[in-house]
Amino acid sequence: MNVDVLLGLQWGDEGKGKIVDVLTPKYDVITRFQGGPNAGHTLEFNNLKQVLHTIPSGIFRENKINIIGNGVVIDPIVFQKEIESLKKIGFDISGNLYISKKAHLILPTHRILDAASEQKKGKTKIGSTLKGIGPTYKDKIGREGLRVGDLLHNFEDKYNTRIENHKIMLKEFFKYDYEKILSECEKEWFEGIEVLKSFQFVDSEHMINQLLHEKKSVLAEGAQGTLLDVDFGSYPFVTSSSTICAGACTGLGIAPQKIGKVFGIFKAYCTRVGMGPFPTELLDKTGTELRDAGNEYGSTTGRPRRCGWLDLVALKYATMLDGVTELIMMKADVLDKFDSIKICVGYEIDGEVSGHFPFELNDDVKPVYVELPGWKTDLTQIKDQNEFPEELNNYINFIEEEMGIPVSIASVGPNREQTIFLEKE
Ligand code: GDP
Ligand code: IMO
Ligand code: MG
Repeated sequence: MNVDVLLGLQWGDEGKGKIVDVLTPKYDVITRFQGGPNAGHTLEFNNLKQVLHTIPSGIFRENKINIIGNGVVIDPIVFQKEIESLKKIGFDISGNLYISKKAHLILPTHRILDAASEQKKGKTKIGSTLKGIGPTYKDKIGREGLRVGDLLHNFEDKYNTRIENHKIMLKEFFKYDYEKILSECEKEWFEGIEVLKSFQFVDSEHMINQLLHEKKSVLAEGAQGTLLDVDFGSYPFVTSSSTICAGACTGLGIAPQKIGKVFGIFKAYCTRVGMGPFPTELLDKTGTELRDAGNEYGSTTGRPRRCGWLDLVALKYATMLDGVTELIMMKADVLDKFDSIKICVGYEIDGEVSGHFPFELNDDVKPVYVELPGWKTDLTQIKDQNEFPEELNNYINFIEEEMGIPVSIASVGPNREQTIFLEKE
């Protein structure tokens, strides 16, 4: 059996959580392979709205195995809160969540280092979610991280050594006043560790490969989006993990030939939170209309999301990197009221139009648009593709033709039910 992968193709928040939940009944195993609580994946069903940060979005379906893979970074404080919020709505997940021993831990000082680093950068800050992601992955690559498996042996000694080093950095380099914050969150952090320890720690690479050997089907859930990838995203305004399809191999311990379908998910328009370039961003009334219609406020930080038109140059770049086999278009309903809708089909750089995604997306990059008529129809009640207005079909056909990849799902609302599977003749 293969591992199918579902990835964001833009700057995150495409609707990954919703679609993983929708696709979960077709799979035996759902697994996260990178990122951490910078992610906020929203699911809506049965009048419930739940945002997941660390736990895979397959958790609400019965009899599924959910695995947090080695590529993920875990903050015990956030994890404990997630578990509590699931318990509150009646979900006890202790039997079907497994955690990789090789996943790295976000220490309390990592979060403080994130804040200190952003403060020091001032105007050039990344706009990080301040969840400690950058400092944790930095320690991982620098071979100074602590992993979930470390909790099983001599943890306190290892912890104290790391914390002492971080304190020196905070004090000497960042000149950051950390003591009060650290003393406040350390207790909570160790409480979170106890909650974490009540779950099953596994050698997830062995577990996943064994499950594949037993012909179990696996869906890997990406976090963030391809344009936030540490290698290929709009560096340095990116996250610190490999968000592309290859990240599923290193973040789970599966060989490249085990990758099956690759679902590339995108909004019918485009958003971004945090700093960094965004060629199709709309700073005018239309941008505000998109934000209002799409309720574009961050699931993790509540920050307003920057909004703009769909960018096919960036989308093609993303599908090239990810090897996308099927596209999934989200939030089509957000465009319901627009008379016409623009799609960026090229970048004009120094007077020349090209479909090439450049080394740097600076101010010289001007989007070139085509304009398509809007459908001016309420899509949220639609149950079948046959009810699609002609203009929506044209919009989807245009994207498929430009991309050379079929759109297999169109989402018309946040609820599980508002998902239309598209049949091809
Ligand atoms: P993720 O990080 O990729 O899982 O996406 P987020 O959950 O951060 O952001 C997507 C937001 O859009 C959430 O609030 C979802 O409930 C909502 N959403 C998902 N699909 C649709 C859709 O088709 N239409 C509308 N209007 N909202 C959607
Ligand atoms: P999901 O999985 C949208 C952005 C931050 C910031 C940059 C770096 O919900 O799609 P970090 O905290 O990773 O150091 O922040 O990346 N970012 C996201 N934007 N959705 C996300 O996750 C994001 N995770 C990080 O806003 O610009
Ligand atoms: Mg999100």
